[in-house]
Amino acid sequence: SSGPAGDVYRIPVRAATAEILPGVRTQVLGYGGGFGGPTIRARAGRPVRMVYENTLDAPVNVHLHGGHVPAASDGHPMDLIQPGGSRAYDYPNTQRGATLWYHDHSHGTEAEHVYRGLHGFYLIEGEDEAALRLPAGPYDVPIMLRDSAFDANGELIFFGDPAERSTFLANGKVQPYFPVAARKYRFRLLNAGNERVFRLNLGGVEMIRIGSDGGLLPAPVPVTELVLASAERADIVVDFGRHPVGTRLVLSDGTTPVLRFDVVAQARDTSRVPDRLRPMPSFPAAAVERDVAMSFDLSGSFPVGLVNGRPYDPDRVDFQVKRGTTEIWRVINADTIGIDHTFHMHLAQFEVLDRDGAPPLPQDAGLKDTVHVPPGGSVRVRATFTDHLGRYVYHCHYLEHSSIGMMGQMEVI
Ligand code: C2O
Ligand code: CU
Ligand code: CU
Repeated sequence: SSGPAGDVYRIPVRAATAEILPGVRTQVLGYGGGFGGPTIRARAGRPVRMVYENTLDAPVNVHLHGGHVPAASDGHPMDLIQPGGSRAYDYPNTQRGATLWYHDHSHGTEAEHVYRGLHGFYLIEGEDEAALRLPAGPYDVPIMLRDSAFDANGELIFFGDPAERSTFLANGKVQPYFPVAARKYRFRLLNAGNERVFRLNLGGVEMIRIGSDGGLLPAPVPVTELVLASAERADIVVDFGRHPVGTRLVLSDGTTPVLRFDVVAQARDTSRVPDRLRPMPSFPAAAVERDVAMSFDLSGSFPVGLVNGRPYDPDRVDFQVKRGTTEIWRVINADTIGIDHTFHMHLAQFEVLDRDGAPPLPQDAGLKDTVHVPPGGSVRVRATFTDHLGRYVYHCHYLEHSSIGMMGQMEVI
């Protein structure tokens, strides 16, 4: 429905079953009916209200990842919807068009909740976007990639080694195939895996990268491999019009197939990929520089995640940020066991300035809200904190890490 709050969506959070493996019903957590919530299509400048009703017996909440939203609607990890309760989140959509997603953020249980299915797409269409004539409508397709592990009964295994989550899912299915017409498609790829770096290829076929976490890039970038770490997004255009009907193209992680495209029909195509998409915003000079080091405390009987040497404490403000300022954060992978992290900042999207002092990688291009920080690495990012005040978290987006404390809190004042 639609009113002064904008478009309103009502979504129960509930236990459900879904067919993920062929012919098998798997128990999942669902936004609405199944594994993965409905794709919300919003317009820049037009508000949306999402109303969630928690029918589970555990607290949940919902965070709009990449959303520039007031603190009361951010889904702060301690701001929960109790069992039997419901909650409205208001999203102003006062930001550029972008591929965002929404997911559970209940502190300590976010990793399990997201793994079991509390994730969905939230797309914002920019005001200026239709004029670009990129593939649209049925040719603009969100694809959620993630990994999972299943037991012999086809149930999800959460309490296990994340490295053993070797079953890859595309939109909640194992190696599905997608019939396509011989024309251009826009795919909005999301890595919704809790702890995974996807290295994607189409068997050497060109993918034209047009967007990242924060929307369209300044210009298209043709690639044959795409690196997507946990919670990162990549918008790409693939031109199946270059391939005869009958061609099969397989999207793979290295050599492991994830999703197959079958070219099944001829098609007229008036879409295009313009040479210029959308310029980067200009950032004012930074007034503040900070270090953010992610590591573990492995001295106890179970590991504790740390940011700047301390585990997350909801009652502690780690950084006070003045509204209107631009800051540079140097994010450091400081653990001693050589594992990947991805750093995610709520509220603001950022520009990646450099990696270990060297120029950023191709996957760092455009506005970002999540960045891969490999073992031993450091990444400098720059963000401007505008309008909204209050407490927001930043954390490693390996959700098993944030859930054990690898998270900090800033207060915009
Ligand atoms: Cu995608 Cu704090 O989260
Ligand atoms: Cu987020
Ligand atoms: Cu981490």
